[in-house]
Amino acid sequence: MKRTWWKESVVYQIYPRSFKDSNGDGIGDIQGIIEKLDYIKNLGVDVIWLSPVYESPNDDNGYDIADYYRIMDDFGTMEDWEELLDEMHARDMKLIMDLVVNHSSDEHQWFQEAKKSKDNPYRDYYIWRPGKDGKEPNNWKSTFSGSAWEYDEKTDEYYLHIFSKKQPDLNWENPKLRQEVYDMMKWWLDKGIDGFRMDVINFISKVPELPDAPNPKGQKYVSGSRFFKNGPRVHEYLQEMNREVLSKYDVMTVGEMPGVDVEEAKKYTNLERNELQMVFQFEHMDLDHDSDKWDYKPLDLKDLKDSISRWQEGLHGTGWNSLYLNNHDQPRVVSRFGNDKEYRVESAKMLATFLHMLQGTPYIYQGEEIGMTNVQYESIEEYKDIEILNMYKEKVIDGGEAHDKVMESIYVKGRDNARTPFQWNDQEHAGFTTGEPWMKINSNYPTINAEQAVNDENSVYHYYRQLIQLRKTHEIIVYGDYRLILPEDDQIYAYMRTLSDEKLLVVTNFSDESVPFKLPEEESFQAKGLLISNYDVDGVEDCSSFTMKPYEARVYKGS
Ligand code: NOJ
Repeated sequence: MKRTWWKESVVYQIYPRSFKDSNGDGIGDIQGIIEKLDYIKNLGVDVIWLSPVYESPNDDNGYDIADYYRIMDDFGTMEDWEELLDEMHARDMKLIMDLVVNHSSDEHQWFQEAKKSKDNPYRDYYIWRPGKDGKEPNNWKSTFSGSAWEYDEKTDEYYLHIFSKKQPDLNWENPKLRQEVYDMMKWWLDKGIDGFRMDVINFISKVPELPDAPNPKGQKYVSGSRFFKNGPRVHEYLQEMNREVLSKYDVMTVGEMPGVDVEEAKKYTNLERNELQMVFQFEHMDLDHDSDKWDYKPLDLKDLKDSISRWQEGLHGTGWNSLYLNNHDQPRVVSRFGNDKEYRVESAKMLATFLHMLQGTPYIYQGEEIGMTNVQYESIEEYKDIEILNMYKEKVIDGGEAHDKVMESIYVKGRDNARTPFQWNDQEHAGFTTGEPWMKINSNYPTINAEQAVNDENSVYHYYRQLIQLRKTHEIIVYGDYRLILPEDDQIYAYMRTLSDEKLLVVTNFSDESVPFKLPEEESFQAKGLLISNYDVDGVEDCSSFTMKPYEARVYKGS
């Protein structure tokens, strides 16, 4: 298998709005990030992925870009950004930027022009259609509730927006638009960035007829996503982007791809096809809800095993996995698949072990490394996320559903769980800002904060450091193949990795009970091969059969 730096890297994701405020306006900013670079470096990561910092009216916190060449005032200036890049490179860290080109902001100059008239030169940068029988052109639903179409009175047509109505979809069928995107990418790469994370990049090609989605049950809106996810020309576009831009630089690329499966991901990430290097897939993030994301159901560990194993085996030798359990769109994993009360530290470490011993490039989302948890605010007023607010309006205000029931789903699934300000210390506003934080801080900051974690050698933070170090010193963690063992166990997730004559055993208990572990008879490991564990383990204990404590995790190396 080809060895590359981006396979051997660990990435840290920053959501700038919530990371660190340096000027007291209550909003995180670039100078705040610079202040904390040593903290990130000490964790041992190699790469930072910065969520969007471009000019934006912030309908979707920067994922609605009004100018791809400018830095948002809230976050600072282009000089601040250049300083950040320099400071990172001086510390031997790389920077990957968010590329959001499935849509722009409706305040982007292209859209301002496009809506002036049907024959405006920018009209065709977006996707416009006349109405059908006085209604929307089709029945697709926006990810953020309501129709995916917005009517424009002036030109008497609708434009498509898969996300909010302030995020009109760009028309990739138009070669001029594609060229604008490539020019912009080159501009940033020439400034010295080290790659891109590409927002919903598998949505850029739509089935041209934009047909209605089937709706046998006559629901109000249906998703329509099969007509814009992994659409007919998406590989062609990515190959063109690779030819025109990416192939000219030694950079890292990861495509965010809701609705991608293993077979499709092989196409996106097989290096011989010259598209991307890895994708963010969502299968494992979709296991704890029904078809509607807000309909929670508990995780069945066997589903997780089935999904992760298919991806590990499927991409081995052909493509490459990205590994994540958190990001700015997901609830905090320690609250989700762990236990954020009596076993917060143990379960956060267990989940990290499970993830970081897999094959792929691991991503750590800010705060994950100190075991930050979900929040529960009683009032909807405390929530800021457009997805939450639109859903609440649709269900409670317009739809008459019970406030309490909908709040419960926000507590488990809402994106704002990940977006509460970073907890730096136990001082006022958790040390995030000297002003009024843009979003309410999780009340557990006096006990869960970075200062505490850095000072406590048994903290989640130091455990992450160890995991990252292990990856740097054991090639098998990066390149070894993967094999699930004990597939039927519904509490223990155990797997093995192999690279030439070396092997690893990873055993994790996903439950809050003590459970017996027994290694299959044909395998053997020695107690002294213990690489890491989240409880004290007796150095001579038999490792082929033992009782696992709640959320225990152990990794053994053997040959
Ligand atoms: C995916 C991003 O991660 C999410 O935060 C955003 O709302 C949508 N794409 C739209 O850009």
